[in-house]
Amino acid sequence: MKFLKLLLLLFVVQMQAQQGGMWIPSLLEGMNETEMKNLGMKMSASDIYDVNKSSLKDAVPQFNGGCTAEVISSKGLLLTNHHCGYSQIQSHSTVEHDYLTDGFWAMKMEDEIPNKDLEVTFIVKIEDVTTQILNGVEALNSEADKQKKIQENISNLNKSFAKESYQGIKIRTFFEGNQYMLFVTESYTDIRLVGAPPSSIGKFGSDTDNWVWPRHTGDFSLFRIYADKNNRPADYSKDNIPYTPKHFLPVSLDGVSEDDFTLVFGYPGRTTEYLPAVAIEQIVKETNPAKIEIRDRALKVTDGFMRKDKAIKIQYASKYAGIANYWKKWIGETQGLIKSNAVQIKRDQEATFQQKIIKAGKQAEYGNLLADFEKNYEEILPYTVSRDYFMEVVLRNTELLGLGFKLYQLEQIQAMRGDQALMDRRDNLVDGLDDFYKNFNLQVDEKVFEQLIDLYLNKSPQQFIPADLKNTNIAQLTASVYGTSKMTTYAGVKELLTGDSQTVLKNLNNDKGYQLVKSLGEAFLKNVNPKYEQINTQLSALQRTYMKAQLELNTDARIFPDANSTLRVTYGKVKGYEPRDAVAYEPVTYLDGIMEKYIPNDYEFDVSQKLIDLYNVKDYGPYGENGKMPVNFIGTNHTTGGNSGSPAIDANGNLIGLNFDRVWEGTMSDVYYDPAICRNIMVDMRYVLFIIDKYAGAKNLIDEMKLVHPKKGKQSAKKQKVKNKRKKN
Ligand code: ARG
Ligand code: ASP
Repeated sequence: MKFLKLLLLLFVVQMQAQQGGMWIPSLLEGMNETEMKNLGMKMSASDIYDVNKSSLKDAVPQFNGGCTAEVISSKGLLLTNHHCGYSQIQSHSTVEHDYLTDGFWAMKMEDEIPNKDLEVTFIVKIEDVTTQILNGVEALNSEADKQKKIQENISNLNKSFAKESYQGIKIRTFFEGNQYMLFVTESYTDIRLVGAPPSSIGKFGSDTDNWVWPRHTGDFSLFRIYADKNNRPADYSKDNIPYTPKHFLPVSLDGVSEDDFTLVFGYPGRTTEYLPAVAIEQIVKETNPAKIEIRDRALKVTDGFMRKDKAIKIQYASKYAGIANYWKKWIGETQGLIKSNAVQIKRDQEATFQQKIIKAGKQAEYGNLLADFEKNYEEILPYTVSRDYFMEVVLRNTELLGLGFKLYQLEQIQAMRGDQALMDRRDNLVDGLDDFYKNFNLQVDEKVFEQLIDLYLNKSPQQFIPADLKNTNIAQLTASVYGTSKMTTYAGVKELLTGDSQTVLKNLNNDKGYQLVKSLGEAFLKNVNPKYEQINTQLSALQRTYMKAQLELNTDARIFPDANSTLRVTYGKVKGYEPRDAVAYEPVTYLDGIMEKYIPNDYEFDVSQKLIDLYNVKDYGPYGENGKMPVNFIGTNHTTGGNSGSPAIDANGNLIGLNFDRVWEGTMSDVYYDPAICRNIMVDMRYVLFIIDKYAGAKNLIDEMKLVHPKKGKQSAKKQKVKNKRKKN
């Protein structure tokens, strides 16, 4: 009987632990710590996050706002994904020195390459500041006044909170406005490129394999943090020295097996796990299909050019990858939401929830929530769709229009703040323009424009299209904009922007391209955006109350705050999955699989001769396992965009993998997490070491790291120490 109970308990804990969740690292004690230990973790919560002693968090900075990285040596060596360092690697590449194609390795520190505008940010400590931020808010009546008061409180606390001069402060909301946390940060800006494998390794499988399992990508790159003589943040200087971290991650040589505990530590960007069913329905039926169609067209055009022209391929590599990435994600997400029946499941949950509200006698407070959601979502729909078209066509995928919109903002600034404000912004804008034109190809953009403006004018909600653009001849419009606009060249734009404020405005307004952007921009800002913002503010308020209600009434649930680009812990196990009837996926892939996928000279599946040679002689050094070279593995960790580059950590705090993606069937995890099919994909650290050591011959980097054998017991750990010592001598 006892045994049965225990079994049942274990079963329950296991099931719960597979429900996902992205947890705040300073609040792990209690339920999370227990769950993690039940899953096999040998550390305590304070080994992960502590303000008084060094802990794992001190090795895990955010990488340039959108990715995660980890420190893996005492000299500030930083590991992240190849796709996270991609634009840096690209920016140092030319047709002659093509680091994207051939890889890059600094064999000594002097060869490491500085990067413009690259920063990594560590978290020093996290504090709950909900009381301070919500002070005086409750008494206010309108949502707008409440938000204003909150912003005031945030800005006051920002100024008054005690910190060192070289530190920063971030205040972020959790649970949709029900909780506020303050982060003390340290940002380093002298970050140098240390190593990157060729794209045939770092981006193996490219877009065909993106978001897909089984996967075989060596998606890693290496950087180094430099600091001033006091180990503090400093802008680039040749006198800066390698940063000494408070903690760095030892690297495990022992790999993973199915059911091993894993913890992923990083900066998930954004999830919306608590949306009502009606919102998910709109994603599935309206917004995702519209965005997918736009990007479909943009990608087809660009791909055609990139395959034919090497220079264009370099120019557009990074932009293309970014656009393709979410295009493909939205397709998978839509399919997953349909297949998992997410809308119906949410509807059922909502019915149960409505019962709970009644049972708790909370109708006055929460009784209308769901009906209000329905009403507001219905009302906002045309504005949301129109806004998506504007964002995707004008701001994101047509470069000339995107630039044009920045010019249009000059005119707006002038109207609001006068001539000097325009001149200041102009100077700022001109500084960045050479980078823009370095990667701009007129023919590519013209063809993209022709495709996308057609969708915009003919398929976005027609009531918001400016009258003079209805029934436009697309070919003529394209020819006139791209044939005459000065925005098509660097020299031309500089000409447009030369002179005093009034001259600039006159020049701009005479330009055909500018005229078009202005017309689209004005229509959007007048007819779409204000109403969108107004309803959206209502929706945010509803969402906040809905969250509060769930926290109150679902006391048994594991409710975690949606991702908001702050440091989170997610944990689970190494585990395969069954994507469809009769198909089962193993959790680990091997180098053999790369050879199976190999297509000579293919732009996605080519394999370099060097790697083939290593494979043929099975020269894997200490990194192989039973004569095979592990490459990628999957687990039940709940991750999202921004978790790329996150360390996958074993039960003892060692680095076993590098997170970089999710599986196709589970990409809907941002909206609805299904533990049966949602998996994150990681590079096995042994593959990273193998590529650095055997492929690139960068022994210097291996020697910096601390390699450990957590599974093979103390005996071999000792041996390892002796070995490490010998290496040094
Ligand atoms: N899907 C992964 C993520 O969202 C990897 C993206 C990079 N790779 C690519 N082929 N675009 O970032
Ligand atoms: N590839 C994503 C990233 O760049 C991770 C994910 O969405 O799973 O952060």
